[in-house]
Amino acid sequence: MTTVTLEAGMPQTIGEAFAHIGAVTTPTITDIKVMCLVEAASKELYRATAAGAENPAVADLLRTNGDEEFVHARRAAAVLTLLTGTDFTPPEADTNPYLAGGAFPIGELTPEALRKLAQTEFDGETLYEGWAASIGNDEAAALLRANGKEETDHGNRLLQAAALLESALEG
Ligand SMILES: [Fe+2]
Ligand SMILES: [Fe+2]
Repeated sequence: MTTVTLEAGMPQTIGEAFAHIGAVTTPTITDIKVMCLVEAASKELYRATAAGAENPAVADLLRTNGDEEFVHARRAAAVLTLLTGTDFTPPEADTNPYLAGGAFPIGELTPEALRKLAQTEFDGETLYEGWAASIGNDEAAALLRANGKEETDHGNRLLQAAALLESALEG
């Protein structure tokens, strides 16, 4: 398998990619490709985060979010197919250019860090809602909104994980 090529104009690192998509209100095809790669990579970031969790319930919550991020990558790919007529498949970890440097934990496993991460997930629904509103294709909009709705679920799982860590700290 060969690594997906980052086209000219696409952010070259995962950090730049997150920053880029977070600022896009009216996505281009390239932006949706970046989103697809970032969502696929996020599965691995959540897994890397879960690997550091001592509490199995916290690890489960993180892995569930990660699995859904890959579902989001598939929906983003379906949006690309709808808009371009060309098939696009989200890459697994070993062919994702945004994981060329390896997966890393998204944040520290502290209640504060998890709450901060939850906020970025809640912001993700707002982002997807804006993309859905501007995409000009009902089927694509429905796929983007399905992703957005689940970003809020991710935020809620992270708040749950933060509460679990907190109660363990108070033990
Ligand atoms: Fe996502
Ligand atoms: Fe998410």
